[in-house]
Amino acid sequence: MTNKASLKSIAAYIPEQILSNKDLEKLIDTSDEWIQKRTGIKERHIAQDDEKSSDLGTKAAILAVQRANLKPEDIDAIVVASLSPDYFTMPSTACIVASNLGLKNITAFDISAGCAGFIYLLEVARSLIESGAKKNVLIVGAEKTSSVMDYEDRSVCILFGDGAGAAVISKDEGYPILDVHTASDGRYSELLKIDRAKKSSFCSPLAMKMKGNEVFKVAVQMLQNDVVEILAKNKISPDKIDLFIPHQANLRIIKAVQERLNFSDDKCVLTVQKYGNTSAASIPMAMNEAYEQGRLKQGDLILLDAFGGGFVWGSALLYFGGKNFS
Ligand code: UT7
Repeated sequence: MTNKASLKSIAAYIPEQILSNKDLEKLIDTSDEWIQKRTGIKERHIAQDDEKSSDLGTKAAILAVQRANLKPEDIDAIVVASLSPDYFTMPSTACIVASNLGLKNITAFDISAGCAGFIYLLEVARSLIESGAKKNVLIVGAEKTSSVMDYEDRSVCILFGDGAGAAVISKDEGYPILDVHTASDGRYSELLKIDRAKKSSFCSPLAMKMKGNEVFKVAVQMLQNDVVEILAKNKISPDKIDLFIPHQANLRIIKAVQERLNFSDDKCVLTVQKYGNTSAASIPMAMNEAYEQGRLKQGDLILLDAFGGGFVWGSALLYFGGKNFS
């Protein structure tokens, strides 16, 4: 096929302030040992009070545009995925990121796909490119999850962190996005959701609620099946994958998929220890880390997977089209 899309750059922004498991021990009835054993997480980063998801996303976006060797004016669509947008339903965070980049008259909209946000962004962006509707699409996963966290609910608040990741998707010049698969099952919508917080005194009127154990079981099953299916559909055997870059929700979920595909540790990108679950930002943040460490190079074949509230999940197979980090 001629009109293939390609991922041309990757970038991230991580807020400075760290919230460690030891810090959480002072807030809630938990322990560093419990959190590490059940999740693999040691610490997560938290945005400042006056920093919004759009601020985190803008910083990642500026770098992603530079790394694609483009100017902001070359971008003709911005799509943001976030479960912690600046505003409730409108204006979209994408409009604010566009404005921060100095762009007017540009297609800008948000999508809601929880922790599978980046896979859904890839699906949307490649469709915009492959249909010929757009030339350069900027996709951004931007999350101030701390703004929808109840820091009295130990079952959820230990898991999440803040951050942003961005990528530019353009017409392919040799390193295409091979396939993206997205899926959902709304029968599970009550198991993981952002809803009104219980206490009116809580700083945010909304809080994330999760039946973690039930989410865990479905996530492992769906993700294992999904990666096996996308590889089989594209006739690619797991040993041909250079890097597996999964959504960073829980080390045990990642290990289960890694083992199913027999991926060695050097093929798997892990950042959950340092950043926790940053939802729609987690895959581009992990991809960016591998890129800046020189582990992700132009032409590498990468496999992504993600799972989140909805339930939504998906996977992607692509050649990395960015220039090597220098
Ligand atoms: O990215 C979106 C998708 N999200 C996920 O994939 C997350 C999926 N779920 C998980 O990662 C895990 O289910 C958790 C890490 C959230 C929880 O681990 P778990 O092994 O499923 O524990 P659990 O919920 O079954 O709880 C076990 C025990 C309970 O105590 P009892 O009832 O056995 O006495 C909890 O009350 O652990 C207790 N517990 C805690 N203890 C210390 C729950 N949270 C904590 C905590 N510290 N933070």
